[in-house]
Amino acid sequence: MNWHTRYLQQAAWTRDLRTYLFEKAGIADARRVLEVGCGTGAILREIKSPASLLGLDLEPASLAECRIHASAASLTRGDAHFLPYPDQSIDIVYCHFLLLWVRDPLQVVYEMARVGRTVLALAEPDYSQRVDEPAELQKLGKWQADALVRRGADPSFGSRLAETFYQAGIQLIETGPIQSAEKRRLPVEWKNEWAVIEADLAESVSGEDIQKMRVLDENARKKRRAGFACAYLFCLG
Ligand SMILES: C[S@@+](CC[C@H](N)C(=O)[O-])C[C@H]1O[C@@H](n2cnc3c(N)ncnc32)[C@H](O)[C@@H]1O
Repeated sequence: MNWHTRYLQQAAWTRDLRTYLFEKAGIADARRVLEVGCGTGAILREIKSPASLLGLDLEPASLAECRIHASAASLTRGDAHFLPYPDQSIDIVYCHFLLLWVRDPLQVVYEMARVGRTVLALAEPDYSQRVDEPAELQKLGKWQADALVRRGADPSFGSRLAETFYQAGIQLIETGPIQSAEKRRLPVEWKNEWAVIEADLAESVSGEDIQKMRVLDENARKKRRAGFACAYLFCLG
């Protein structure tokens, strides 16, 4: 699995939302913008702003790729639970598909609010709201959620995102779901999605069962109304 390709795909799902939220957060006037859990730079590379761009991630390999894809950003290896920045030193601090992976999301959100004046959690999945049609495909959603749990993620964290910000004492300005994008129905998106599903399930589901689901999904694809919802929110600290 090429993770940068996957992150670019996820970045495309939230591009319109990010544009809206970054503008609303005042990115044009920001001096410092930080992505916590920046991965390979799929989001950082697209930010057009005179601000200094900062990225932090635990994984040296991701940071090495990020250096290539988001060469303007200053990168730091670190743990989101203990951000190495002074209080209120960053204008906008954001994350994108991070909190489902961390040991203590509340601690991470506390840290984001400590260092940042505006805190954005741009996307966290909520598999409990996932819609699979026809009903035979529901098994696929469960297999994928179980595979994420085995890799250490909380695939329903999106359902607790607003509550977590509230617990961290952050004033919520805007929060809500992202519906499945129209783009997801495009053949190339569908193919990429299936590359991820096959990689996720390779160790837990037989190739035959995966292929049965793929055929069912292919038949249903043109009729599908929605995939799964992601929660996002916009907050001012
Ligand atoms: C799903 S990737 C998302 C990457 C990027 N935000 C994006 O959307 O393209 C999650 C990233 O969070 C990083 N990560 C996970 N736990 C972390 C932690 N405790 N501190 C810092 N980074 C962490 C991982 O190394 C990975 O790069």
